[in-house]
Amino acid sequence: MRDQAAKLRELAARAKTPPAAAPATGDGGRVIAVTSGKGGVGKSSVVANLGAELARRGHRVTAIDADFGLANLDILFNLNPRHNLGHLLQGQVDAAQVVAEVTAVPGLQLIPGASGMEALADLDSAGRERLLAALAPITADREFVLIDTAAGIGRNVVDLCLAAGEVLLVTNPEPTSLTDAYGLLKILRQRDPGVRARLLVNSAQDAAEGRGVHAKLAEVVQRFLGGGLESLGVIPRDPCVSRSTTRQSPFVVAYPRAPASRAVAAVADALLETAAVAGGSGGFWRRLLAVGS
Ligand SMILES: Nc1ncnc2c1ncn2[C@@H]1O[C@H](COP(=O)(O)OP(=O)(O)O)[C@@H](O)[C@H]1O
Ligand SMILES: [Mg+2]
Repeated sequence: MRDQAAKLRELAARAKTPPAAAPATGDGGRVIAVTSGKGGVGKSSVVANLGAELARRGHRVTAIDADFGLANLDILFNLNPRHNLGHLLQGQVDAAQVVAEVTAVPGLQLIPGASGMEALADLDSAGRERLLAALAPITADREFVLIDTAAGIGRNVVDLCLAAGEVLLVTNPEPTSLTDAYGLLKILRQRDPGVRARLLVNSAQDAAEGRGVHAKLAEVVQRFLGGGLESLGVIPRDPCVSRSTTRQSPFVVAYPRAPASRAVAAVADALLETAAVAGGSGGFWRRLLAVGS
């Protein structure tokens, strides 16, 4: 770990990008961290399909695969990207070279993930500044940046969520998933009482079960943490989800009339109905890279 951090510092120092003192970018669009307490609840599925749905409606969307170790959005999008965040961190490529266009969905881009980004927190402030200068421009003109985070309460996940303007907390109806969602929300609220986190219930039997799951969690949150927990919607359990994974095409594209696709469309509606919070992606990179420095 020490070696990797030292190497990254050295490589970041050698990066050709100019220092962040003169960022050539605006503050960018809405940054939404899609996260969960427990793994396997559908984060990647939500990022791929919500991203595709927003792009189909004409929005410029970038999905960032930040599930270090389990990065798999490239597979869901049927891409075989040559470069990823790891290559960028190692100074092997420019930021623009890690951006992959999702061929099946015009307007949707992917920044493929890599385990090397784990070392982000170990970079010194000069390294962080250089990385900021490299990363901010790739998302500056995007309307939505969706981040597929790892599961759990690890530092990387919490930092990503707090740096993003909005958090989409995904859970399924299983008690373990709900308890872990509560645990993650508790930590997020402790670190930032103003964090804007909303719940998305995935793999519900039907809308009624999903609403029940939200009501149950919202009640516990109200009692023990104070404040409510807004819902952004319910996605039903749907065989089209795994079928679309096999076809390596988002289900909103492969099966636009499937129940899961209609539900994702409703989530997109809900997202578009609510205004962006101040901050934008420029602010996101600054906040993220400032963590720990
Ligand atoms: N609404 C759903 N209905 C049926 N299967 C789903 C649904 N959402 C996710 N899945 C399946 O659950 C598994 C985990 O989903 P994934 O998006 O990879 O979760 P995560 O990214 O949280 O680990 C995948 O096999 C996926 O196809
Ligand atoms: Mg995943």
